[in-house]
Amino acid sequence: MSKRPIIIDTDPGIDDALALAIALFSEELDVRLITTVAGNVSLENVTLNTLRLLNFYGKDVPVAKGAAEPLLAEFVDASNIHGKTGMEGYDFPEPQEELLLPEHAVNAMRRTIMESPEPITLVPIATLTNIALLFAMYPEVKGNIREIVMMGGSASRGNKGVMSEFNIATDPEAAQMVFQSGVPIVMAGLDVGLKALVYPEDSEEIRTMGKVGDMAYHMFKRYRGGSFNTGLKMYDSCAIAYLLCPELFEVVETYVGVELRGAMTAGCTVVDLRGYLHREPNARVCIDVDGEKFRRWFKNAVSKCI
Ligand code: BDR
Ligand code: CA
Repeated sequence: MSKRPIIIDTDPGIDDALALAIALFSEELDVRLITTVAGNVSLENVTLNTLRLLNFYGKDVPVAKGAAEPLLAEFVDASNIHGKTGMEGYDFPEPQEELLLPEHAVNAMRRTIMESPEPITLVPIATLTNIALLFAMYPEVKGNIREIVMMGGSASRGNKGVMSEFNIATDPEAAQMVFQSGVPIVMAGLDVGLKALVYPEDSEEIRTMGKVGDMAYHMFKRYRGGSFNTGLKMYDSCAIAYLLCPELFEVVETYVGVELRGAMTAGCTVVDLRGYLHREPNARVCIDVDGEKFRRWFKNAVSKCI
């Protein structure tokens, strides 16, 4: 079976680092390009982190730097969750600078998509600024995209605002452009991210799983996406889990819009589970995940890394 070609758009980020490892060491995925966007920390830091991770993983995947700020919203990072550098807790090797392309992420995505003989799957595990710019600048790429499998949004409550999830709330206008793009979308948001938990006994097991496991363990000690003792949230690995193991998820096809002007709800994904809005579905939304199976899947996936 040929590997599924994907582009990952990311902002490492501790949970991003694990999602990247699982995708890069998977026998079923072919990571053709990694693009970066300001999110968990600044664009400079997330790009350096990506290049450090690739050196650590020993993987030669090209990287392109994308948007330094959201389209309209003021940029607010998540260093309170991931630490000042975005990957606090581990001493990584130097960044593998030669993997950094001279082109902007949007141009690198366009080229990679248009050159690919098979349709590409986009996997954004960060805010959607780069993807919105890609569709605005080069709508022709939509013809060679299989689907978007994203981590972002929520059909219930938020983790950034009362009703908004971080990746969507960071750039709501970009998210709305992506949901309106007409490209098939799978949304793995907080409804599954909050249940994709790694418990202390899992972390202890993961620690013994080679160099990636040891690195994960040390970063888990510093990660504030949940708590080490009661469960750490592996948000971004949900998108990768959906690609590799969709049977873990319960999925509903429906309309998703993004609230842009709500006085208290800007950046909220309005997931119309009951059809109030009478609009055509534009997304498949993961509304539940089997937490036990996810844990097993996650540990098994980490054990396959170096
Ligand atoms: C998302 O926000 C970021 O902090 C994580 O990396 C993840 O992509 C979860 O809301
Ligand atoms: Ca992320």
